[in-house]
Amino acid sequence: MYKNLLKPIFFLFDAEKVHYFVFSLLKISFNIPGVSFIIEKLCVKKHNSLKVKAFGLEFDNPIGLAAGFDKNGELIDELTCFGFGFIEIGTVTPKPQEGNDKPRLFRLPQDEALINRMGFNNKGLEQVVKNLKKRNSKIIIGGNIGKNKLTPNENALSDYKICFEALFDYVDYFVVNVSSPNTPNLRELQEKKPLTDLLMGVQNLNNLKLKPKPILLKIAPDLTNSQLDDIVEIVESTKISGIIATNTTISRENLNTSLSELNRIGAGGLSGRPLSERSTEVIKYLSQKSFKKIPIIAVGGISKAKDVQEKLDAGACLVQIYTSFIYEGPAVVSNICKEICQ
Ligand code: FNR
Repeated sequence: MYKNLLKPIFFLFDAEKVHYFVFSLLKISFNIPGVSFIIEKLCVKKHNSLKVKAFGLEFDNPIGLAAGFDKNGELIDELTCFGFGFIEIGTVTPKPQEGNDKPRLFRLPQDEALINRMGFNNKGLEQVVKNLKKRNSKIIIGGNIGKNKLTPNENALSDYKICFEALFDYVDYFVVNVSSPNTPNLRELQEKKPLTDLLMGVQNLNNLKLKPKPILLKIAPDLTNSQLDDIVEIVESTKISGIIATNTTISRENLNTSLSELNRIGAGGLSGRPLSERSTEVIKYLSQKSFKKIPIIAVGGISKAKDVQEKLDAGACLVQIYTSFIYEGPAVVSNICKEICQ
C-alpha cells in the first residue's frame, strides 16, 4: 500500500514538508485507541535469532533508525511500533538552531537516494530532554550529539560535554558526530589531534560516572585510508566503544540522476543506495585494520536483508537505516527481519 499509493502521493510534494506531515499524521493516528497495537502486531518481529549483544547492550534486532529522522526524540513510542531494534535521536546541539535555508532536502528517485543540507536543525537540549522524559517505550536509544553552528571548533568540546551531561540519564549510548557535511568546518574535527582531544574529553566525563555509557564515533565515508588508520588508532587510544560508519557523502559519482538536476539541487550529503558500496568498503577497512576488535554500526544504503548481510560480512555488528524508510516505507524493518529469520 505504501509503495503503490502513499509514496507516489508523498513524492509529489516537498520532501521536508512531507516529513513533518507524516510526523503529525503518526502523532494523531497513534492517539486513536488500538492503532499502536495493530501496527506493532504487524511490524514488530521478535525472534531469538534476531537478538544482538554489542557494547554491553542487548538489542531485540540488529536494525536501528539512523540519526536525523527523529532529531528531537518526539516520536520514539510511535517509531518503536515499526519494529526497530534501536532508535538514534539527534543530532542534538546545546542550543536550538534553525539549520540551513529551505529547500534543503531533495529526492533522487532514479537512485533511491536523498541529498540533504539540513545543518543540524533541532530544538536544542532542553526540549529534547523534555521529550525523552515523556517516552514510554523501552527501546534502546542512542543520543547523537553535535556542536552549534556558531560554536568555533576550538570550543567544540564544551558543546559535546554539555550535550553528554544533559542526555546522560535518558539515552543508552552516545554518538559523537563530527561527520556531517552541512555544518561548516565540522568535519575538520575528524583530524587526529582535535578528534583525540574531543573523544578524550567526553570519555573522561564518562569515566567519572558510576556506570559509564558506550560512546561511539560517527564518521564520514569520504575519509582517506590514512585518515581511517588514524580513526582506528584514536578509537583504541581513547577506549571509546565503537564506530558508526557512515554518514552521508559529498561524492556525486555513479548516479543515474542528471548532472543538471544535481546542479539544481546543489550542496549536501548524499544518502541511500549509491552510498552502500563506499560504506561497506569503509566498514571492511576498519574491521580489518582493527582485527575485528572495534564494534561497528553500519549505515548507508541498506534496504534489504541482503544489504544487512553484506554489512555484517564486512564486519558490522548492527545496522541502521534512514533513506530506505522513505523509499520502502514502514514495513521495511519487519520485511528485513522476516527474511533474516528465514
Ligand atoms: C541524515 N543523517 C544524519 N546523521 C547524523 O549523524 N546526524 C544528523 O542530524 C543527520 N541528519 C540527517 C538528515 C537527513 C534528511 C538524512 C537523509 C540523513 C545521516 C543518516 O543518519 C545516515 O548516516 C545516512 O543517511 C546514511 O544512511 P541511509 O540514509 O543511506 O540509510
